[in-house]
Amino acid sequence: MGRKFPKQTIRDVDLRGKTILLRADYNVPLTKRGQISDDLRIRASLPTLRYLLEQNCKIVIMSHLGRPKGKDLKFSLKVVADHLSKLLSRPVELLDDCVGEAVHQAVRRAPRGSVLMLENLRFYDEEEADDLTFAKSIQRAVRADYFVQDGFAVAHRAHASTHAITLCVPGLAGLLLEKEYVTITEAMNKPKRPLVAVIGGAKVSDKILLIKRLIKKADRILIGGAMSNTFLHCRGFNVGKSVFESGMEKVVAEIYDLAAAKVGAENVDDFLVLPIDVAVAPEISKDFPRQ
Ligand code: 3PG
Repeated sequence: MGRKFPKQTIRDVDLRGKTILLRADYNVPLTKRGQISDDLRIRASLPTLRYLLEQNCKIVIMSHLGRPKGKDLKFSLKVVADHLSKLLSRPVELLDDCVGEAVHQAVRRAPRGSVLMLENLRFYDEEEADDLTFAKSIQRAVRADYFVQDGFAVAHRAHASTHAITLCVPGLAGLLLEKEYVTITEAMNKPKRPLVAVIGGAKVSDKILLIKRLIKKADRILIGGAMSNTFLHCRGFNVGKSVFESGMEKVVAEIYDLAAAKVGAENVDDFLVLPIDVAVAPEISKDFPRQ
């Protein structure tokens, strides 16, 4: 896989016993009660973590969760650290900050082969501001030998933990980043036909360019997840309290125009496929029956 990927990965360097600052994307959906409702992003990071543990690295994970305004413990990564600990069958210690002397001491004391997690980066405005001083403070606390970017889903953001940090610590790609890159690059450049694209996620606005490219490339596009709520809403369906992105009417109309230009207006619903059935419940929780 390595040759298909243009960057150095964690397999290309001798990492035995090193301290690794790992950017993961653990921005997982939470229920109203603060439970993880889908742990896919956490499970997707396991191959990288297991590889680094095989190299006896000390791993310090950083991530954001949600879009908190300042320090708001509703968005603490505690629930993520606990879940990761179960998946890895080893302790994952959540530190209560991502910078500062206490973090430094905790990282310094931790033995090789241990996993620590910094508290939600977005408790600081400096994170989204791509603040170099903040990135330096993270590195001052962690003293990492390498920064490993494994948060594919957040790698498009120019934030302190994705961009400024690369100016402070030598960077490597994680196995998830590599896998996602290779998979999507091959699918876009040398697609096996028929090429069916399945797209979800909450934000049409973030993916609009990708959707437009996929209209050109794909033989069929299936829209699911919260994204389908946005499409259904724009097409006049009531989506109740479900997550959807407002103000997307013009964008969605543009997508339909592009699709119609490719396959003809009469075929557009076979090409751009929305869910026919939906499950409805008062809350995403095992405690509430769904219809
Ligand atoms: C995502 O979930 O799309 C990424 O984690 C980025 O999160 P953001 O849209 O809040 O920057």
